[in-house]
Amino acid sequence: MIETNCSLKAFNTFSIDATAHILFHLSDLTQLAELSALVKKMRVQNKPILILGAGSNILFCDDFSGLIIKVELLGISIETTENDYILQVGAGENWHDLVTYCIDNDMGGLENLALIPGVVGAAPVQNIGAYGSEFKDFCVALEYLDLDTGKLHKVSNAQCQFAYRDSIFKQANMRSALITQVTLKLAKQWQPKQRNASLSDALDVSAKSIYQSICQVRAEKLPDPSELGNAGSFFKNPVVKKEVADKLRAENPNMPYYPQDAEHVKLAAGWLIEKADLKGRQIGGAAVHKKQALVLINKGNASAQDVIKLAELVRQSIKDKFNIELQHEVRFMDKLGETDLARAIQNV
Ligand code: FAD
Ligand code: EPU
Repeated sequence: MIETNCSLKAFNTFSIDATAHILFHLSDLTQLAELSALVKKMRVQNKPILILGAGSNILFCDDFSGLIIKVELLGISIETTENDYILQVGAGENWHDLVTYCIDNDMGGLENLALIPGVVGAAPVQNIGAYGSEFKDFCVALEYLDLDTGKLHKVSNAQCQFAYRDSIFKQANMRSALITQVTLKLAKQWQPKQRNASLSDALDVSAKSIYQSICQVRAEKLPDPSELGNAGSFFKNPVVKKEVADKLRAENPNMPYYPQDAEHVKLAAGWLIEKADLKGRQIGGAAVHKKQALVLINKGNASAQDVIKLAELVRQSIKDKFNIELQHEVRFMDKLGETDLARAIQNV
């Protein structure tokens, strides 16, 4: 199905009111010929193309002047081998529903990744992660469509170059790669992943009880996008030189501190933002969430400009106070395609 000049408000969890020039709902690979023709037309006209899942990691800074392809490819198939369950999952399946389905069918493993919004096809893009688990821990391979050639390709886990909130799908030369299906492996011999201090001690060790605890903790801390627009953590947690982290820790002994290797430490951006006294800070309809400072929220009528100005205030304050440069996790889209905070702030 193709729509023109349609509102994107329901298609991004920030609930920003922008429009898409063309919105293509891709629900079946039989639509490929039609899609390829449209992609060609966009390329000739020099119009941008955006692949969209559930819009839970996107800020629409402006109306989008080109083609948005909303990935709605469904289907789950499960094979059993001696030691594992092998799942083939369509990119348009809802991620949390997949986690719940696995838990309900005694296939543990994904429980730490419960309640992450979005669809399965977006999960590899930033290698979603929470509570010690990441998408890469379960991904065997995935399939993508090269929008420019119309060809399907299969890539292995190693080829995806997964890292903290990163993969090859974030590289500029992979912007035409539309993930169609992922292959996941869940071990029959389930092992709990490391516990997290913020999970209750009463946790018993079944995949289902961990799933329930994670859902509870997340529901307490993170705003539900159906009630308060947001895109989860707005910034990534910064990885800094050990000397920088050690100096800060000497001044703040309770500061969260996550060693990465001998020379680098990951810091909690939420802690830095709270320390800079920005919890609850508001610009227009956008605010720093009071329960989790790493989340910027739409209090109801925020414009993209409000969110951009607030993000810049946060970035600059953390730079001034700690000399640490925050990078945004949320993907910024403007009229002509992907942009970033540094460029977006010039236009508000
Ligand atoms: P979108 O926002 O639609 O797209 C995100 C990016 O992926 C875009 O660049 C898009 O072009 C690309 N993309 C989407 N689908 C495809 C595809 N099929 N092929 C190629 N590219 C594609 N993230 C975490 O990692 N951990 C968390 O704990 C977490 N918690 C969150 C909590 C809340 C309340 C919210 C709102 C967000 C949270 N997020 C978290 C961020 C977000 O849920 C994830 O990034 C998610 O994977 C985005 O899925 P989506 O379908 O909404 O993708
Ligand atoms: N903290 C504060 N104040 C705050 C927020 C956090 O002091 O306002 C402190 C907490 O007390 C804790 C530490 O910072 O000591 C870390 O906080 P939390 O456990 O809430 O996790 P986070 O680092 O803020 C990351 C991910 C989340 C993921 C959680 C759970 C990033 C950018 N964010 O958040 O992912 O759900 O860990 O594992 O890595 C997302 O990417 O959108 C996202 C929500």
